[in-house]
Amino acid sequence: MKDETLIIRAGRHPHDNHGAVNPPVYHASTILADSLADYEQKSRERVADKPGTYYGRFGTPTTLALEEAVAALEGGYKAHVYPSGLAACSGALLAFLSAGDHVLMTDSVYGPTRSLANGLLKRFGVSTTFYDPLIGAGIEALIQPNTKVIYLESPGSLTFEVQDVPAITGVAHRRGVTTIIDNTWGTPFYFKPFEHGVDVSVQAATKYIVGHSDAMMGIVTANKEHWMRLRAGTNELGQTAGPDDAYLAQRGLRTMAVRLKQHWQTGVQLAEWIARQPEVQRVLHPALPGDPGHALWKRDFRGACGLFGVVLRPVMHEAFAAMIDGLELYGIGASWGGYESLVVPFAPQKLRSATQWPDPGPCFRIHAGLEHIDDLVADMEAGFKRLRAAA
Ligand SMILES: Cc1ncc(COP(=O)(O)O)c(C=O)c1O
Repeated sequence: MKDETLIIRAGRHPHDNHGAVNPPVYHASTILADSLADYEQKSRERVADKPGTYYGRFGTPTTLALEEAVAALEGGYKAHVYPSGLAACSGALLAFLSAGDHVLMTDSVYGPTRSLANGLLKRFGVSTTFYDPLIGAGIEALIQPNTKVIYLESPGSLTFEVQDVPAITGVAHRRGVTTIIDNTWGTPFYFKPFEHGVDVSVQAATKYIVGHSDAMMGIVTANKEHWMRLRAGTNELGQTAGPDDAYLAQRGLRTMAVRLKQHWQTGVQLAEWIARQPEVQRVLHPALPGDPGHALWKRDFRGACGLFGVVLRPVMHEAFAAMIDGLELYGIGASWGGYESLVVPFAPQKLRSATQWPDPGPCFRIHAGLEHIDDLVADMEAGFKRLRAAA
């Protein structure tokens, strides 16, 4: 079955739900058993990881439907929902780490995941080494006897370096290290982590899966070998997600294939236009042929989402502000993956420890939404005119 078909079918069981096309929203904490024997049976089944549930936190038909669909699309074994993308990142890490362990984490990682490593993980006795996202198989030299996890994010969601995931997971497997990837940019549609040797994949479903900027959600999918440990860690932390948000996420999922195609096309067209402006130092978009990550993107990805970065040549902050503040179609916002276009400034110089950011100019990230490309270019063109006038 092709992904476009799978995304329509996975996790939906209309005939168990009075024929309703979508899984119903179950508001449930308590789930009653028919008898003592039934309760005992359900408890046994849960220990044996059979489908079924006897308490809301372990899953309701609403959350189970979403988990089933995302796991199928990512190509993993099973998935668990979390109340936000960051909760999914931290839940995945905490499930596989103990005091005294060491993590290798990409230097291009999402900022709050870096803060988790430098904060809570450190306080609980886990040390982290940040690695150059371009390290590839060279990561072997950084593995210590207590390295338990390699945490990837490819491309990095601010600076867009593409990692050689199979090279890294190849080393990890040989050395008995678990690999976790933040696959939010690739989406379950455009990057198949388990085909590239990853053990555990994290989605900030808040982005493209929800797709409409109206709910927070995280999902972690594991391969069979890593599933029970992920499930145990997740349950120990008490992680689950609200039924209405889980419903919105599964609803968003159904249209993700068509939305993504448009985000991809608009993003590339916009990035190409921006790259031609004289004030631009470089555009960070792996789907552009000149991008340093293009060859790996072409080899490993099936598409691109609408998120990319822009590095400007050095310019006064006031001129940069004039450009950004006057944009009408791009909201100034930290998230992405919704139907609307966004910009957000970022300063990679402050977010690095293993590598140095080479460019002194201001940077901003664009999320290309579903507006018409001509309107998006015209608005951006007006922005560049303001930048020129103010500089
Ligand atoms: C790559 C990446 N991972 C994780 C997250 C966290 O997701 P959430 O905001 O839902 O906690 C984000 C949010 O921006 C992100 O960009």
